[in-house]
Amino acid sequence: LSNGLAQTPQMGWNSWNFFACNINESLIKETADALVSSGLADLGYNYVNIDDCWEAPTRDIKGQLVPDPKTFPSGIKALADYVHGKGLKLGIYSSAGVFTCQVRPASLFHENDDAATWASWGVDYLKYDNCFNLGIKPIDRYPPMRDALNATGRTIFYSLCEWGEDDPALWAGNVGNSWRTTDDINDTWASMTTIADLNDKWAAYAGPGGWNDPDMLEVGNGGMNYLEYRSHFSIWAIMKAPLLVGCDVRNMTTETFEILSNKEVIAVNQDPLGIQGRKVQVFGTNDCLQVWAGPLSGTRFAVVLWNRCLESGTIKVSWESLGLESSTIVSVRDLWKHEDVVTDAVSSFGVTVDAHSCEMFVLTPKVPHSRV
Ligand code: DGJ
Repeated sequence: LSNGLAQTPQMGWNSWNFFACNINESLIKETADALVSSGLADLGYNYVNIDDCWEAPTRDIKGQLVPDPKTFPSGIKALADYVHGKGLKLGIYSSAGVFTCQVRPASLFHENDDAATWASWGVDYLKYDNCFNLGIKPIDRYPPMRDALNATGRTIFYSLCEWGEDDPALWAGNVGNSWRTTDDINDTWASMTTIADLNDKWAAYAGPGGWNDPDMLEVGNGGMNYLEYRSHFSIWAIMKAPLLVGCDVRNMTTETFEILSNKEVIAVNQDPLGIQGRKVQVFGTNDCLQVWAGPLSGTRFAVVLWNRCLESGTIKVSWESLGLESSTIVSVRDLWKHEDVVTDAVSSFGVTVDAHSCEMFVLTPKVPHSRV
């Protein structure tokens, strides 16, 4: 969507994956505080996004949406002011249906009113869900909110959450700044790997202004181990997925912070070229040894060697799979070790990778180089 936003995938935090409906204004403020004090805000995590359950059960007498007076007694405008005061942006949530998924009021047929309400509060981002949609097609339900947001005159990031219904990559490029490609993620290895594969299919449709969204991060929520979360974060980064932290950032472990704050991995995600990396080579039983790769600015490449097997294994990326001449001399930087590992690789580069882990690299060909 050409509203000037999403030149790189959005980064920030969202309440749903960890807190679900257990949200209130103190949590949102403390999260904003923690994003700043931890250093995550400086690394680019700047959207603080409230998900479902922020609303009172019914609209007010004028038909306007109102925040739940028990959990958001000071109102959303005050919260937006607070978040803006920290140099961050505030996101809100509704559904392109008659209720949200947790059965609060939603915005189908109220697009203009609700967009105007959010704009008047200083909201910067809308996540727009798909529940209670009366069976109307997404392609008919999502554009009216784009137009309503646009009509407010406030620049608001528009995140479509249509769960991949009707293959949004094919039609959402001029509707939203990102669109979900799958059902909800959960905090398991099986869910995360399945979603990565589903999202890969739509790589060609992502780019500055509009990104495939394989759902929010589960890093730090406890259902996967350190190496699995490292894989999750690396693959989301190379897929140019939104990096929306989904854990309690007020209480992160050192390991969780180490993953989320890896500057070099974030730089791959935020590379200005904006081309989604994809699965380019597979080996092993059930193709469980995988190479994911994509071009970066400056004629470089990002590569993730991902071991989805139950045992450690060697994974090698060939220059051919990147579209490079085999004779090209390439230097290799390891983004998890933060060191340059090889300066003169030709034709391929491989390492042993632990089970369920990955290694991530930036490959820089010696200039001049040519693509095959
Ligand atoms: C479904 C969405 O896909 C989730 O991300 C979350 O927003 C829930 N609905 C909230 O009810």
